[in-house]
Amino acid sequence: MRIILIGPPGCGKGTQAKLLQDHCDIPHLSTGDMLRLAVESETAVGLRAKTAIEAGQLVSDELVIQIAADRLSERDCSTKGFILDGFPRTELQARALDKLLETQKFSLDKVIKILVADEVIIQRVTGRFMCMICGAVYHEEFRKTHVEGICDICGGEQFTRRKDDNQEVITSRLHVYHLQTVPLLAYYQGKGILESIDGSSPVDIVTQQLRKVVACR
Ligand code: AP5
Repeated sequence: MRIILIGPPGCGKGTQAKLLQDHCDIPHLSTGDMLRLAVESETAVGLRAKTAIEAGQLVSDELVIQIAADRLSERDCSTKGFILDGFPRTELQARALDKLLETQKFSLDKVIKILVADEVIIQRVTGRFMCMICGAVYHEEFRKTHVEGICDICGGEQFTRRKDDNQEVITSRLHVYHLQTVPLLAYYQGKGILESIDGSSPVDIVTQQLRKVVACR
């Protein structure tokens, strides 16, 4: 199955994509995670992407299309499909993805929009923290660890926050989303593959809605 999760920053794409990956056995591909890893490892891609990420702007289409295409060409994506999280974000990226899939003789099954109001987004993003060992994502109010200070998944005791998760940068990320990514919804609506779910409910309720739409089993 080939799925795109689309929605504003902090709407729950990453949280839901990880759960769906386990439930459906489909690889989760996050361009944000790939870029952050590149920044942390100080690779050439990371050095080119760093300033844009920290300012809440989009990294260049050319760079993102290349990293997405490289990952999509790996074997697990051709055998199992993919859940794309954070890509495409511009019409140019969407057209590049169509072209790549056409070459591979595949097509998209569904594009799922996760709807969450901007006020909720700010709360979600400013309260997010991650385990430094396994990357599990939590929220200080909405998704706490079961035992305070200990990661539920790996038992790690150190946590971190993203540099772009502050009030100023999230305002810019939301602006960029409305300006550059929202037009993609009409693009996929026109192809008849766009579905919407309400992302404002608690995580498990959103998961149930998503599973109904995806229906992998
Ligand atoms: P990216 O990493 O893709 O960030 P994003 O789209 O801004 O999305 P987030 O990762 O912030 O949020 P999410 O929707 O995954 O929410 P999450 O599940 O964590 O991109 C970062 C940057 O990289 C971009 O700004 C850009 O610079 C660059 N980039 C990436 N892709 C690019 C591309 N294609 N083109 C150009 N540039 C690109 O949830 C958020 C919080 O809410 C968590 O704390 C979570 O626990 C909590 N939460 C989740 N669901 C719920 C719920 N239902 N109820 C309550 N709390 C919830």
